[in-house]
Formats: sequence, structure tokens, C-alpha cells
Amino acid sequence: MTDTPNATERDFWSGPSGQSWVANQEEMDRQMAEVADLVLHHAQPGPGQRILDIGSGAGALSLLAAEAVGPSGHVLATDISKPLLDCADMRGRTIDHMDTFLADTQTADWPAADYDLAISRFGVMFFADPAAAFANIARALKPGGRIVFAAWAPPQDNPFWRIPTKHAVAHLGQPPKIEPNQPGPMGLADIELACDHLTNGGFDNVEGRVETIHLRHTDGATGFASLCCRIGAAKRVINHFEADEKAQQAIENDIAAEFARFERPDGTCAIPAAINLLTATKPA
Ligand SMILES: C[S@@+](CC[C@H](N)C(=O)[O-])C[C@H]1O[C@@H](n2cnc3c(N)ncnc32)[C@H](O)[C@@H]1O
Repeated sequence: MTDTPNATERDFWSGPSGQSWVANQEEMDRQMAEVADLVLHHAQPGPGQRILDIGSGAGALSLLAAEAVGPSGHVLATDISKPLLDCADMRGRTIDHMDTFLADTQTADWPAADYDLAISRFGVMFFADPAAAFANIARALKPGGRIVFAAWAPPQDNPFWRIPTKHAVAHLGQPPKIEPNQPGPMGLADIELACDHLTNGGFDNVEGRVETIHLRHTDGATGFASLCCRIGAAKRVINHFEADEKAQQAIENDIAAEFARFERPDGTCAIPAAINLLTATKPA
């Protein structure tokens, strides 16, 4: 995959950020387990179905989908990042009905009209041309096939983004602001715009709703704050300013202090999260 309209994202997800995601994959999957449940609850994958997992990353959603469709079905985990897809491949190595495909969703040359369902957990917000990418997903679906995905709602509705960013910026300064609706974690935060992209990509019955779930960490507020300084909002600021260990620890401590209000009596930390849940159908 030498030429792609999404080379910046490919390089981001194939470099240290993607590798960090691989290294922290178990912790990330526990954190985002309810988001996977949300997608699968709305997608309802059934035995024998053929499923495309878009931006599958390390394959957590693909593995759950493979369990749901069983050996008579098939799951294709597809992603632009080789290290992440290699991880998905390794995790699915004993599952004959799960494969991986390294491709840019926007331009992937996959067979037409081959899949019943396209699903994604946070893998569809990074396209330079979202309508073109959704059109290419629609092309892969059978007539009447569905797409179901989760994307982040705006950061102001998500303490998981708002709090780490606030503390990292307070310690280090403001990195260049990402313009709204540009490729990135908040690329589909505007739910109306996300619906428009699906419609412009050729989908019918487009529906978007905001759902509240919880992101979880088993090691309480400190464990959660530590993860935020390795992947996500605080990490972006830390990377930009090349912050030293001392500054990172100070940021982590401040995030942990504020996350403490989300701790549960069992020692876990559960942060409410607003998720844009989108569903649509390829015209029959
Ligand atoms: C936030 S991660 C989510 C990974 C996975 N879905 C999960 O929930 O663990 C976003 C994923 O989208 C992938 N991605 C970004 N742009 C892409 C593109 N144009 N085509 C395919 N995958 C892409 C990244 O490589 C990354 O694995």
C-alpha cells in the first residue's frame, strides 16, 4: 500500500502510536469493552453472516463478531496499520473464519456486494474523504446490507477526552488545535455531519443517536490516568511538547486526582462516555 489518500493516518497508526496501542491492547480492550457491546447490540451479527470490521485495529471487535457468526460465517478485519493488523492476525490465528486485510478503507479493492454487515468501533473517523470511504464500504456490502459503527461524541461531552487534555495543556501549553470535522478521533463528533457522510456515500435509512456507556479501568483512577498518558488525549500533548518524565508524572497525578470521582467501591474506575452510534442500510 504505497499510495493512499490517507498516508498521514497510515503513518501515525503504523508508527509509535500504533505500536503503543499494540503493547497496551489488553488494557485498551478492557477500557472499551462496553463500546464493542454497544456496536454488537445494534448490529446483531448472526450465524453464517459475512462481516467487515472497518479500522479493526488489534481485532477486538472482529474476534467477538467471529464468535457470533460461527464457522459458517466469515469476518474480515481490515485496517491501514500493519502493526495493528498483525496483532489482529495473531489473535485470530486459530479462527479459520476470520481473516485480515491491510488496506485503506477509502480505496480498498475488495470484492463488491460480498458482505452482510460492516461494523466499526472507532475506526471510521480518520478518512480524508469520508463520503468516498463510506461509498467504498457500501460497495462491499450486499444490497440491503447494513453498517453499524461507534464514533466519539464531542470532547466537551466526554470527560475521558476533556480532563486529560485540560491537565496536559495546563502543564505544557496548547498544541496546534485540530480543526473540527477533520480526520482524527473527533472526525465524526458532529452527528448530523456523520449522517450526511453516510447519505453522500450512498446509504439509506441513516440514523444517528448518542448513547452513554462507561469506559473502565480495573486499576482505579491512577491506572486510568496512566493509560491516558500513554494513548489518547494527554499523550498527544505530551508528544507534541516532548515532555520529560517529571512533567508526565505531574500530568498523570492531576488527571488521577480528577478521575477519583469516577472510582467505584470495588476499586475500578468507570468514566461515563458519550458515543455517536450510527446505523444505515445499502439500498436493496
Ligand atoms: C482508534 S483505533 C480503533 C481500533 C479498533 N477498532 C478498536 O476499537 O480497538 C482506529 C483504527 O482505525 C485505523 N484506520 C485509520 N484510518 C484508516 C483507513 N483509512 N483505513 C483503514 N483503517 C484506518 C487505524 O489504523 C486504527 O487501527
